Amino acid sequence: MTHIFLYGSPATGKTTIGKILAENLRLPFLDLDKAIEENAGMSISNLINSQGETAFRDLETKALCESVNPIDKVIALGGGALLREENRKLAEANGTILLLTADLGTMLPRLKHKPNQRPLLAGDLEANVKAMLEKRKPHYASFPLQLHVDNKPVEENALQAQIKLGRHHLSAMGAYDVIVGNVNNALSVTNSIVVTDENIARHHAETISKLNVKTIVVPAGEEHKNLETVQHLWKSFLENGLDRKSAVIALGGGVVSDMTGFAAATYMRGIDWIVVPTTLLSMVDASLGGKTGFDLPEGKNLIGAFHPPKLVLADVQFLKTLPERELISGMAEVVKHGIISDVELFELCNNGLDWIKQNLEEVVKRAMAVKIKVIEADPYEKGFRAALNLGHTVGHAVELVSKFDLRHGEAIAIGTMVEAQYSARVGLASQSAVAAIESALQKLNLPTQIPEQMSKAEIIQAMRVDKKKNAKSIRFALPVEIGKVELVNVDDLESVIDDGR
Ligand SMILES: NC(=O)c1ccc[n+]([C@@H]2O[C@H](COP(=O)([O-])OP(=O)(O)OC[C@H]3O[C@@H](n4cnc5c(N)ncnc54)[C@H](O)[C@@H]3O)[C@@H](O)[C@H]2O)c1
Repeated sequence: MTHIFLYGSPATGKTTIGKILAENLRLPFLDLDKAIEENAGMSISNLINSQGETAFRDLETKALCESVNPIDKVIALGGGALLREENRKLAEANGTILLLTADLGTMLPRLKHKPNQRPLLAGDLEANVKAMLEKRKPHYASFPLQLHVDNKPVEENALQAQIKLGRHHLSAMGAYDVIVGNVNNALSVTNSIVVTDENIARHHAETISKLNVKTIVVPAGEEHKNLETVQHLWKSFLENGLDRKSAVIALGGGVVSDMTGFAAATYMRGIDWIVVPTTLLSMVDASLGGKTGFDLPEGKNLIGAFHPPKLVLADVQFLKTLPERELISGMAEVVKHGIISDVELFELCNNGLDWIKQNLEEVVKRAMAVKIKVIEADPYEKGFRAALNLGHTVGHAVELVSKFDLRHGEAIAIGTMVEAQYSARVGLASQSAVAAIESALQKLNLPTQIPEQMSKAEIIQAMRVDKKKNAKSIRFALPVEIGKVELVNVDDLESVIDDGR
């Protein structure tokens, strides 16, 4: 179960934010204080005044136990609901707790507005609130996931809560949830099959066996993202008796999810699929947005289909076994997302690789939110979704010319730098923005220059193939400043790559 518990001192907006959060996530909402009042047949203030705080806390524990049934929901808790250790353990075992915090200046007017509702604060309100906050300080501080809510519209606070929680509901192309969580807690499957690759099968045999479904293991690597492997998947689906009501689970990086999604899109005219991304790149990028496909010898992703999954479940525990080079490669897409629209995420990238390794969950949650924002606004790439191509026009070409010696993200890092420099040459980006991008990429040990052995001519040729030969001009997403890109059609491809490189 993956309930969401909103907790924190009174008047931090747990109920107001919780209702919007529930609406955004298409989940039921429960106000625990209301449930207690309904059970008791009286208001909480009457309950405390007539029977005392202990009786109220007993009813609170009972209501909490009843609330954690199998239907996931958003639950707004009372300000002291998790003071009892048993309540805290119950909430932790059944979902995620997000603690809301606010300054006294935000809380007091709200509390003054409803003076009779809080008998535990009766009397000198300001003094009593201060005393309560002081007393509960270590308790509130002990919750790892926190959101400060001052001075922001409630919708913005709800969105920030979603980012902190790693919970989204997408609806622009199909309807599906994106959850950052534990795969063995949050995934229950029947009538399905897992597709994974040989490396993940080796490292994560125990996790896979707990899913208790059959597994198809494909060879690892971009060179196997081809029709042959897709055909193997179709045949394996048939041999395992998958029908139109079945679902396939893609457990892997972008290679596994692109091919599995495509095989699911086309098998029996389309069956459901779920993605459990296992690389950083697939958590923040490839698993989101419903693009599926495979490569031809002539170029990447030339065959494909839009086929959104039914669920994306990102468990950062998988990243523990990811080779460092792959982790670094994934960071190129994270930096890209920062450049597109999240200055704070870009700043986090500047903390360098060691910090990133310690804070992967936060990085994944922030970076995926950028992609989700873009694909929800433009699911079929009719406009701004092309912003996600930042670094990819040159990057794909460099990747192809390297014959995939460069990892995808390494090529994207080079592409991002080349395109940023071009953006500065045509007067769009400032030199300081280009320098900031270079510095962030270098701090993550990502390459920023086209390898010497690659000629400009072969990269430009590869760019034309990648973006369909007939196109007169190619549309680039160029950085303007950190947090902002512009879509620009470029006719003269020669000018994109500086002769000096
Ligand atoms: N569909 C989209 O919107 C989209 C977006 C971006 C990229 N992509 C595609 O994604 C692909 C790149 O994805 P990728 O970088 O995830 O590569 P990948 O799937 O090839 O994985 C990289 C390597 O890491 C291994 N691996 C994966 N998870 C592991 C784990 N937890 N522990 C140990 N090893 C692990 C894999 O076996 C592989 O060798 C490209 O084909 C690209 O075109 C698709």
